[in-house]
Amino acid sequence: MAEENNLMRLQKYLALAGVASRRRCEELIAAGRVAVNGMAVTALGTKVDVQNDEVLLDGKLVSLQQEKRYLLLYKPIGYLSSVSDDRGRKTVLDLVRDVPERLYPVGRLDYDTEGLLLLTNDGELTNFLIHPRHEIAKTYEATVKGKPTAEELKRLESGVLLEDGMTAPAKARLVRTMGKNVLVRLTIHEGRNRQVRRMLAAVGYPVLALKRTQIGGLTLGDLQAGQWRFLTPQEVAALQPKVKKKKIQTKTETDNGEN
Ligand code: URA
Repeated sequence: MAEENNLMRLQKYLALAGVASRRRCEELIAAGRVAVNGMAVTALGTKVDVQNDEVLLDGKLVSLQQEKRYLLLYKPIGYLSSVSDDRGRKTVLDLVRDVPERLYPVGRLDYDTEGLLLLTNDGELTNFLIHPRHEIAKTYEATVKGKPTAEELKRLESGVLLEDGMTAPAKARLVRTMGKNVLVRLTIHEGRNRQVRRMLAAVGYPVLALKRTQIGGLTLGDLQAGQWRFLTPQEVAALQPKVKKKKIQTKTETDNGEN
């Protein structure tokens, strides 16, 4: 029975190793990109022995024990924030080919957006960072045509109605004027699809160019488009969920209702 305990469904194994969501892993298996002990496997029910089997995705080892990697990439325009593309377009993984571990982006930037993108193989941290409940601040600089008024900036801050509902409180500032265009800095805590473009369009300013400059305390620093660096251990620690210590309440006369 010990052997039975080591068995795990292939899609679960891949997801736990941080490859992608379980559903996406099923697609990768069905597409014939996963091999177990040298044999391509496309059957979704396949089980693997987590201690003895060798699992490869696109020829790269996928291991539950693999070292965790955290990269900060300056994504250029013209790259997809995905691990592959059936139309053959470039993806952000093309920029980090030297890293042996299988990485994937934390959230996404549009094809036509540049800027700060994290890549990792740490599935738990990814789930934490992209969950709206955790309200990680993301700052964008948007070039828009025309100059938003103070009133319009306030609307961006207090919430605008998009087709998928009101946006949460945000911060909006004018950074500078560039001829007829203006650079707007917007900090949001959500990650809806094309959110910044849609928010600015909703107040009347279509975005001409968009760059993410910050996630939490991380900035692009001196990186140029296409360059990346590993996060420092301190930066990784700062991204981790903070375990809230329970306040231990000491009993007082007030607690006992004797006031
Ligand atoms: N908001 C957008 O509109 N696009 C992005 O790429 C990121 C946030």
